[in-house]
Amino acid sequence: MPSPWNASCSARIGGPMSETQKTGRSRLDPEPVSRRDVLGLMSLWAAGSALLFGLVGMLRLPKAAVLSSPSKRFRVTLPATLAAGEAFTPPGRNVAVYRDEQGVYAISRVCTHLGCIVKPTEEGFECPCHGSRYDHDGTVTKGPAPRALPWLEVKEQAGTLYVDEGSNVASGTRLKV
Ligand code: FES
Repeated sequence: MPSPWNASCSARIGGPMSETQKTGRSRLDPEPVSRRDVLGLMSLWAAGSALLFGLVGMLRLPKAAVLSSPSKRFRVTLPATLAAGEAFTPPGRNVAVYRDEQGVYAISRVCTHLGCIVKPTEEGFECPCHGSRYDHDGTVTKGPAPRALPWLEVKEQAGTLYVDEGSNVASGTRLKV
């Protein structure tokens, strides 16, 4: 029950205490944002961003992620000046193609150790990775390569030579041209 003294004071000042007087703030001041509200807004923003990124990722799914590999069978045009026993490497292929008196043949340049690309040398082939050596027909002369370089199938169709990297033939097999 209010005391008579307080009641008379209120009456003199102008009535009960207003809201502004209670909080000490004007109605035009923005209300302070609590830490809980800030964290809530941040988590909402993070969830929205994750949703957006997920949606963008899903829209990209139909695109092929892997490019098709080139065909293992390819056409070869040997230079007219290619000397007997001289290696010709078709552009973009890891194959050495040769022409000699007995015909045309192709040897893979992929090292049988761990797959590095061997370099043709005067002695045969040399691997730059772990030092394996091969002679002219691909036989291993120095390890660690465990096997000889494979010979690849060479065919002729309508006057055009084709080499098939996916098809091995016996060492020494030549195509007579
Ligand atoms: S990959 Fe050729 S020697 Fe190791």
